[in-house]
Amino acid sequence: MTNILCIGAGYVGGPTMAVIAKHCPQHKITVIDINPERIAAWNSDQLPIYEPGLKEVVDIARGRNLFFTATDIDEHINQAEIIFVSVNTPTKTFGQGAGRAADLQFWEKTARQILRNSTTPKIIIEKSTLPVRTAEAMSQILNTNPNGLHFDVLSNPEFLAEGSAIHDLENPDRVLIGGHNTPSGQAAVQTIVDLYANWVPRERIITTNLWSSELSKLVANAFLAQRISSINAISALCEKTGADVEEVAYAIGTDTRIGPRFLKASVGFGGSCFKKDILNLVYLCEMQGLTEVAAYWEQVLKMNEYQEARFVANMVHAMFNTLAGKRIALFGAAFKANTSDTRESPALIVCRELLDEHADVVLCDPYALENARTDLGAQSSRVTFELDPYQAAKGAHAIAILTEWADFAALDYQRIFDAMAHPAFIFDGRNILNHQALFEMGFNVYAVGKEPRVKFNAISS
Ligand code: UDX
Ligand code: ADP
Repeated sequence: MTNILCIGAGYVGGPTMAVIAKHCPQHKITVIDINPERIAAWNSDQLPIYEPGLKEVVDIARGRNLFFTATDIDEHINQAEIIFVSVNTPTKTFGQGAGRAADLQFWEKTARQILRNSTTPKIIIEKSTLPVRTAEAMSQILNTNPNGLHFDVLSNPEFLAEGSAIHDLENPDRVLIGGHNTPSGQAAVQTIVDLYANWVPRERIITTNLWSSELSKLVANAFLAQRISSINAISALCEKTGADVEEVAYAIGTDTRIGPRFLKASVGFGGSCFKKDILNLVYLCEMQGLTEVAAYWEQVLKMNEYQEARFVANMVHAMFNTLAGKRIALFGAAFKANTSDTRESPALIVCRELLDEHADVVLCDPYALENARTDLGAQSSRVTFELDPYQAAKGAHAIAILTEWADFAALDYQRIFDAMAHPAFIFDGRNILNHQALFEMGFNVYAVGKEPRVKFNAISS
């Protein structure tokens, strides 16, 4: 039995270790975190994150070969032969690279903690997304120890998407493992290949050098985000010209060279990864003097900010240039469906901008209200949090769909319309509703990348 440790029980560490434990009953997997409440939740029936299928996997392995603990961390580190590090790596808010570079303080602290508590050699795996060459820095910190212990540092970035994490972990498109091209580095890579080969077909396990692996993670996210920004840019043009962005996306996506995925125009992309990783990539390019390359990727983020701002501007303009005192129901707080995560959620950006307009905002989401309340901080006192969409919409002048929860598409919109203030507006930031049917009910309908269906012409500003 190999002792495997994971440091960091978040959205990445928790689900990843649960799936490894499920498929590798021969190994003991321990997950630790500095946050004891998070660990307590992992040990309860109310897991700290909402993720479809996660509970079932945890139930199979927890207590068998999967353990969550916040105590005896030093001893767990010492006993481990393999350590996955999946602590948070937020964007730096101070000093050099503020607002762009990754804040590596948690990572470096973790590396020093590993060093302090180790009496045996270990494989250390970088699971958090980190800038290129971080593993090299960690390798140096770990291997300059006075007692001659050897640590192999590998990069094994996680490509799971929230909301489909268990499916993605069970059937990954690929597993990427990067290591040093030394006998010891390659032996470590082989150990981790063998671990994943317990359930992942061998041809889907890619091995590269350390830096290629680190860079591939940033580039994968940058390419995905770029597709969304590209279709969102076209959505603005569609709204002006009468083309329908869904028809355009379908038409171009049938070209096998382009493909259909990540072409869904929306209010904007959110989540903990896209913005952070692109900022990281931009910073790396700038540091290398590649100004044009940096500007190219930065535009993906600027287009996303434009899309979010444009969505709110459309609301203000459509509703006679004033939202002050108007009740507006926001359907969705999570950054995407099937998750409770609100990090960088466009819903919260829209919410803040509507508060600036002095709107009376009601936020409705099946799983993400608690996180939304925390993220909104002091502003949360000006927001009504409501689980029931019918209550949220009661007396509202407008509804904005900001997260594509299937439940929102299945509501009785006639009932909602009847209980709203009139004229009633609906802004579909995810294109999940039947716009023609809503228009026929009496709604003024605005959808991303589509010509508005309206009873009244907006007053020009
Ligand atoms: C992303 C990557 O997909 C994943 O591989 C990586 O490991 C982490 O970052 P995640 O952020 O969890 O995953 O979700 P994803 O499905 O990529 O969606 C990101 C954002 O883009 C969401 O806000 C989503 O609503 C939005 N999106 C996605 C669109 O607006 N349109 C699309 O076509 C696809
Ligand atoms: P991700 O989405 O990358 O998984 P999260 O923020 O969800 O990020 O999870 C990171 C986790 O790492 C948090 O639960 C945090 O408490 C934990 N963490 C951060 N630093 C340490 C550390 N030094 N030791 C243990 N856990 C840590």
